[in-house]
Amino acid sequence: MTPAWIFPEFSPVGVDLAGAEAVARYDHNQGTDPERDNALLDRLGVGPGTRLVDLACGTGSLVVEAARRGADVHGVDVGEEMLAFTRRRAADAGVDVSLHHAGFLSYELTGPPADVVTTRSALHQLPEFWKQAALLRIAGYVHAGGLLYVWDLMFSFPPAEYAEQVQRMIDELGRPDGGADGAGFTRADFEAHVREEFSTYSWILEGLIERAGFTVEEAAFPRPTHGEFVCRRR
Ligand SMILES: C[S@@+](CC[C@H](N)C(=O)[O-])C[C@H]1O[C@@H](n2cnc3c(N)ncnc32)[C@H](O)[C@@H]1O
Repeated sequence: MTPAWIFPEFSPVGVDLAGAEAVARYDHNQGTDPERDNALLDRLGVGPGTRLVDLACGTGSLVVEAARRGADVHGVDVGEEMLAFTRRRAADAGVDVSLHHAGFLSYELTGPPADVVTTRSALHQLPEFWKQAALLRIAGYVHAGGLLYVWDLMFSFPPAEYAEQVQRMIDELGRPDGGADGAGFTRADFEAHVREEFSTYSWILEGLIERAGFTVEEAAFPRPTHGEFVCRRR
């Protein structure tokens, strides 16, 4: 039985991604890009037989591209509509993916350990204490030498600049609320993200990742509010 103190990960906070319409809009707005997915899969050495788990797989572009390469792909998400979208995307592409209705804190990989775990734009759904728990769980099913890739909205600016940096992100990246639908998220999406979700400083994330048993091999912060880590299981 799940203890009563476990974080309620099946009720995500912040921007509403529940419902088929919200999911289709999300897929459109986030700008699904198979080239970007394949560039990442190349970097992570994903090929035939690679056992890959994508946590919070969303609408499934990465898992479908990985499956096209013959990887043994597991997509995990708490959103049933997200999984339904991914299932359709995989069927349209004619590839097999294993999909799991579970989350960072509940997913259990059965069978051999994973070679690669990826999670993009999702770890911020958990507060720090639970991010650490999630990373420890991941470390439990990646083999030594295996890889963890994290991309997220994270903060690498000097903390004293938080107000201007957050506002700059919203001004530069948020498209006007109520405008025509298009690629990218609205100002209101970014405002809700910062207000209600749990994006944090890159140096906190790095500490959590290291303490879970991974070594950060690459870190990149293309914007002061977005970054990635490539990490190897010790
Ligand atoms: C912003 S989307 C990112 C989806 C995808 N990774 C991408 O890059 O497009 C966040 C995803 O996290 C999922 N999610 C939220 N909380 C979760 C949790 N605790 N465990 C797993 N997935 C979660 C949501 O259902 C949603 O699909």
